[in-house]
Amino acid sequence: MGKSAVKVFVRTRPSAARYPDYKTYPDGSISIHLPKDSTHGIVNNQQEDFTFKVDGVLDNVSQETVYETVAQEIVEGVLQGYNGAIFSYGQTGSGKTFTVSGDVRNYSQRGLAPRALKQIFRDVDMRVDKIYRIRVSYLEVYNECLYDLLARSDSREEPQELVVLESSPDGSGMSMVRGLTCIPVSNEEEALAQFFIGERGRAVGGHVLNARSSRSHAIFTIHIESRTSEEASERALLSRLALVDLAGSERSKKSAVDGVLMKEAQFINKSLSFLEQVVTALSRGDSHVPFRQSKLTQVLRDALGGNCRTAMVATVNGELMQLDETLSTLRFASRVRTLVTSPKLTESSDRDLLLRRYERQIAELKIELAMKDTLAGRSQVNYNDMTAEEQQNLVVLARRFLQGEGDGELINQLPTDTIRRVREAYRAMRTVFQSTRSDLLRQLDEARLQVAGGGRGVGMLGGGVGGMGVGGMGML
Ligand SMILES: Nc1ncnc2c1ncn2[C@@H]1O[C@H](COP(=O)(O)OP(=O)(O)O)[C@@H](O)[C@H]1O
Ligand SMILES: [Mg+2]
Repeated sequence: MGKSAVKVFVRTRPSAARYPDYKTYPDGSISIHLPKDSTHGIVNNQQEDFTFKVDGVLDNVSQETVYETVAQEIVEGVLQGYNGAIFSYGQTGSGKTFTVSGDVRNYSQRGLAPRALKQIFRDVDMRVDKIYRIRVSYLEVYNECLYDLLARSDSREEPQELVVLESSPDGSGMSMVRGLTCIPVSNEEEALAQFFIGERGRAVGGHVLNARSSRSHAIFTIHIESRTSEEASERALLSRLALVDLAGSERSKKSAVDGVLMKEAQFINKSLSFLEQVVTALSRGDSHVPFRQSKLTQVLRDALGGNCRTAMVATVNGELMQLDETLSTLRFASRVRTLVTSPKLTESSDRDLLLRRYERQIAELKIELAMKDTLAGRSQVNYNDMTAEEQQNLVVLARRFLQGEGDGELINQLPTDTIRRVREAYRAMRTVFQSTRSDLLRQLDEARLQVAGGGRGVGMLGGGVGGMGVGGMGML
């Protein structure tokens, strides 16, 4: 697919009290005019006018339109085998969760994740030429810890510690979280059920920890493995779609109330400021990009600068009191828009699958070689491995040749049609040479023993050594 620019959309939360000088235009530009802040005194250098340009503004549009604008193409790509990621970024209350998950009680207000599942299964059901295996996972990153939202609580096994691997063992080169539960799902209902289980996990946490959900990052991933039926057992494409609901981007000054919140705020702001650092490094083209600094940036590595097609929805509030946060969200959004990723097809490197594929390729190549030989007028070239019997016959032939038999006739019988068979002939020569040599050495030893025993064999010894060059061959 080559290079792909990260697309950025701005969605403004509907409000009756929208600030009149916050304006969005259909071409994707946004302008904000701020009154001079009187608290800054009479001499005031504060900037008053701001303009931003993104790939599209989503103002007063339905959830369906948001899906069509932001996600549809990416999901189509995921079905063809390209990774996709969509994330929402913005201050708490601006509509991140509404965008990604939607209103879970109101079907028409469902968000990107349930709609993506619908599109995926609709396509999967229609494509009779392909075989799909679909799994879902739901990861939460909170205070630099990873939580598995789909882990079965009834499982007797101790939950495995989640670890981000920089390169997954499936050979795709993508990062993955080891130990994360991936649940196979065979239809939209099953997938949605898992999505809701994960959502409930976030909500429970939210109740206990005071709106934890706005302080954590949630990543719902749909993993797809597809095979074309005709070669169903050999070649699988792997792709995934990550839907990321980031923690509120507001600065700590507002949320830091007590110790716990302060710590949380630091962690949230840390992982989001690491996200900003990564985005800045990528957009500057730095040789070192500090992905390893936080769990979030490790998990999102592909989405930000790797093998993935990515879109971001920056959710903002157009009310005057929120404009400082809106400005900082839009600044981040502009930077994200400079990012470029390189989506490519990823094939499973399952060893058995590979082996079967190579066997098929070799068989095809042999047929091709035979065709080439026929065209070149070389008939009956044998590209197969020699059987044990053929190898034995070749050794006999080599021995006769070395003994000088046949006067030039035998040399024509030694194989020269393929390099592999020429090598076999050399190997046969070596076999003959080695057995000749060991026979001679044995005879030499016997002769020595005879000399030591009675001195009768001196003449034989001389004869044996002298005859080594040619006569030795005759003893084989
Ligand atoms: N575009 C929108 N249209 C209608 N309601 C919205 C929209 N965006 C947000 N809301 C509502 O605003 C509230 C806060 O949104 P939410 O998505 O929870 O914010 P965030 O996840 O960014 O903290 C929710 O009640 C949500 O339903
Ligand atoms: Mg939220």
